[in-house]
Amino acid sequence: MFKIAARPSPRCPHLSRNESTGLSQHRLFYQNKQLELYAAKEANRLTLRQLIFFGRAMDQDRLIKSANYVRTELPIRIAHRLRDMQKLPFIVVTQEEVAKVYELYWNAFEKFRRFPPINTLQDNVAFCRFLSDILREHSTVIPSLSLGLSLASPHLSPDDLDSFMRRMLVSRISRRVLAEHHIALSEIHSGTHASKNLGEPHVGIIFTGLHVQRCIEKCAGLLRERGNGWPEIIVDGHLGTHFAYIKEHLEYIIFELLRNAMRATTSYHRGASTIPPIRATIVAGANDIGVRISDQGGGLSDTLVKTPSDLFSFSHIRNAARLQNSRIGALRTVSSSPHGMRATVDEQVGQWQENLASGNYPDAKDVDADPEMKAGVGPHPRIGIGLPMSNIFATYFGGSLELVPLDGWGTDVYLRLPKLGTNLEGIEV
Ligand code: COI
Repeated sequence: MFKIAARPSPRCPHLSRNESTGLSQHRLFYQNKQLELYAAKEANRLTLRQLIFFGRAMDQDRLIKSANYVRTELPIRIAHRLRDMQKLPFIVVTQEEVAKVYELYWNAFEKFRRFPPINTLQDNVAFCRFLSDILREHSTVIPSLSLGLSLASPHLSPDDLDSFMRRMLVSRISRRVLAEHHIALSEIHSGTHASKNLGEPHVGIIFTGLHVQRCIEKCAGLLRERGNGWPEIIVDGHLGTHFAYIKEHLEYIIFELLRNAMRATTSYHRGASTIPPIRATIVAGANDIGVRISDQGGGLSDTLVKTPSDLFSFSHIRNAARLQNSRIGALRTVSSSPHGMRATVDEQVGQWQENLASGNYPDAKDVDADPEMKAGVGPHPRIGIGLPMSNIFATYFGGSLELVPLDGWGTDVYLRLPKLGTNLEGIEV
């Protein structure tokens, strides 16, 4: 059990108790008791189908029920992760970036815990504003955690580090999904939902007829518009395939996979008169949607990993690139940026446009080291989070992501996403 007398301060583990927030021991003890109470409760996990069914016929009562579910569920999920962080070795949790995230989560936990029950639509407006503020405040969490854990990697076994990161990231996705879904349901109910989604059927943030080919073509178009001489992308297979899914998640994964395939192909065929295309094949199975992306970018031989799944690892032992100066520098830049990490494909492209217009790149050395940045097509220096995050997005509702390299030729990536929406969120939420 957590002991208040232990150093460092549980509230701010990077400070000794005397330098801490000035809270009395009594108050700290009370706060940790609260944390224990919440962490003792199980998360109430949902399926995609439940999120759709509940949100489909929205009225005032259901909206208020949804608000109170989010209000009471998120502090439980945050409490589990705070407990996880308290169990890290002292040297890890005192690492500045990790401590920053711990502090953010403590503040969020306290704010949720104290938020009064929502009884009216007006209360819900205030609650949605509160959620939007927290979502924004937490935009640096992933680069901060990734930087902190990379620097702390020598102090954790690869298995401990990766399972900790997995729990943190799955849980974060789950909390953001619940918060964003509730905000979208509220906006739809009040008629203030952003017009960009009009015309495409959706319930909250879930698109009920998400068209896979269109998603691939959107991502391919965005990339090819910006990458000079980047390879063509051929889409084949079951072209009419559509299913219910969170559009931002599918786009994030496809964008990342295509970008990697394009980078590898362009670099492997540098100087050649022609560049082979990338092929994206869509398959609609009975229970799953499959997408295979095949490139001729030479495979993974120029990466610093022994097995392809090590590319998903945050440990420097599995993936030596985690401690490279350029990677650490890039993470520092993003984690200290007021915008944090650009989460969606549309935001990433927006950032590229800003970079191009301003000619301002975070660090000139990074631009020289990265041909994509030099061409003005990179949103920010490469932080090495795209593939691990794609893996987490793919597995969140029970899908999978697998890389199969053929060194000397290319790589096939297999994405599988369940299409029935009946899987519960990942167990670590
Ligand atoms: C996060 O983005 O890390 C969150 O936990 C957001 C959630 C509290 C709404």
